[in-house]
Amino acid sequence: MVELEGGAGMRRVAGWLVRGAALGAAVLVAACSGEEEKTVSPEVTAGEAIYKDQCAVCHDQTAAAAVAPDLTGVVGRKAGTWKDFVYSTAMANSDIVWSKETLDAFLKSPTTYLPGTNMGYFGLADDTQRAELVAYLEHISQP
Ligand code: HEC
Repeated sequence: MVELEGGAGMRRVAGWLVRGAALGAAVLVAACSGEEEKTVSPEVTAGEAIYKDQCAVCHDQTAAAAVAPDLTGVVGRKAGTWKDFVYSTAMANSDIVWSKETLDAFLKSPTTYLPGTNMGYFGLADDTQRAELVAYLEHISQP
C-alpha cells in the first residue's frame, strides 16, 4: 500500500518534471525568438523610456510648432543647425558637434555646459541613465 502510493507520487513528480521541462523549453524559445526580432540593445530600450519620459514633451516633432529641435540624427550634427528651429544665440554660435561625449556633458547639466542655452531641462545626474539616453540618441542617429 505504501509502495503503491509512493509509486503514484513518483509518477506525479515525474509528470511535473516533464511539464516543467516543456514549459521551460517554451519560455526559452520565446526568449530566443524575441531576441532575434529585437534589433536594439537593452541599453537603447532603457534610454528610449527615459527619452519618452523626460525629453519627448519638448522634442516632439509631431507638434504643430516645434518647441525643440528634432533629435533624429543628432549624433554627428553640429549644434544649433536643425533647419526648422530658432536656437538661442549661445547654441547657434557654439562650436559643439554632438557626440557621445558632448551629449553626455550637455545632458548632465545643460546650462553649465552651455551657458545661455534656453533648453528648459535641469539635467540628468545619473551616469547610467545618461549613458542609456545617449545610446538611444545614437540609435536614432543611425542612417
Ligand atoms: C522644456 C523643453 C525641453 C526638454 C524637457 C528637453 N529639451 Fe532639449 N532642447 C530644448 C530646446 C528649446 C533646445 C534648443 C536650445 C537652445 O537653442 O539653446 C534643445 C536642444 C537640445 C539639443 C541640441 C540640439 C541641436 O540641434 O543642436 C539636444 C541634443 C537636446 N536638446 C537633447 C535633449 C534631451 C536628450 C532631453 C531629455 C533628457 C531634452 N533635450 C529635454 C528643449 C527641451
